[in-house]
Amino acid sequence: MKVPLVIAHRGASGYLPEHSLPAKALAYAQGADYLEQDVVSTRDGVPIVFHDLTLDATTDVGAHFPGCDRARADGLHYCIDFDFAEIRELSLLERSGEDGNPRFAGRFPRIDLGLRIPSLHEELSFIRGLNQTSGRAVGVYPEIKHPEFHRQAGIELTNLVLGVLDEFGYLQGDAQCFLQCFDAGELRQVRARARDLSLIQLLSAAPGAGELERIAAYAQGVGPALDDLYTVSGEQVVSNGVREAAGQAGLLVHPYTLREDALPKGVADFDALLRLCAVTLAVDGVFTDFPDLAVDGFRQLR
Ligand code: G3P
Ligand code: CA
Repeated sequence: MKVPLVIAHRGASGYLPEHSLPAKALAYAQGADYLEQDVVSTRDGVPIVFHDLTLDATTDVGAHFPGCDRARADGLHYCIDFDFAEIRELSLLERSGEDGNPRFAGRFPRIDLGLRIPSLHEELSFIRGLNQTSGRAVGVYPEIKHPEFHRQAGIELTNLVLGVLDEFGYLQGDAQCFLQCFDAGELRQVRARARDLSLIQLLSAAPGAGELERIAAYAQGVGPALDDLYTVSGEQVVSNGVREAAGQAGLLVHPYTLREDALPKGVADFDALLRLCAVTLAVDGVFTDFPDLAVDGFRQLR
């Protein structure tokens, strides 16, 4: 059995507030192979490691900037309406679960510990420092979030991300870096500009006819939702053929997101989930909120 890469989804986000540097340090110590960075921009063009376009679900923005003058008509505070200096005043919190994204029971309490939103530059410095002190080579896995939204606001997010990656040497062919995005047009443009960078096309639905072959022309792999790779038939959980088709197209497969506290359909426990990924589907990597469980579980399956 080939052991899949363990990609820490927003850090060890099953244990600590997502995208905080402590969550990244924990994931690093738990043995993750790659640490994920979702990237959005501030008003003054600083790429920050943050999942949502809006600050409300995972920071104290409402309390820090009271009143409605900094919120849009929908009542939400957008990262892109704040300068980096203002963003730095905010405390990162565990996800509230009030915006449609779930708050998982049993996760870190929603308390203010003064955790700050890192810039992409700071986070890559942090990982470079850990690689230096540990002697390991843990990789980075940035995602360009909503490039068209940023473009409409006058910010070329992809340029910002590529600039920081270049500064850290991640555009070289042998770099431990995958760049991911849901936007296929954006990734095609990246391919033309960064020939050696490994690209992962994220998928929000199972691929249609010919889609995997088209993706293989510019990307090294796909990031599908795990649910889109298998079917449940009675007690049996079997591949639906997408994983094999991706392999035939020459694509890596890195499904998202393995969570001990939110198991997918037909899967009894986390060990069964790991067996599904590593044995039944033989995927190349997994995004998980629980890097420790994936590292240990894959080790036992070997
Ligand atoms: O990037 C893989 C997975 O993280 C995609 O979903 O919403 O968690 O960024 P999301
Ligand atoms: Ca992501």
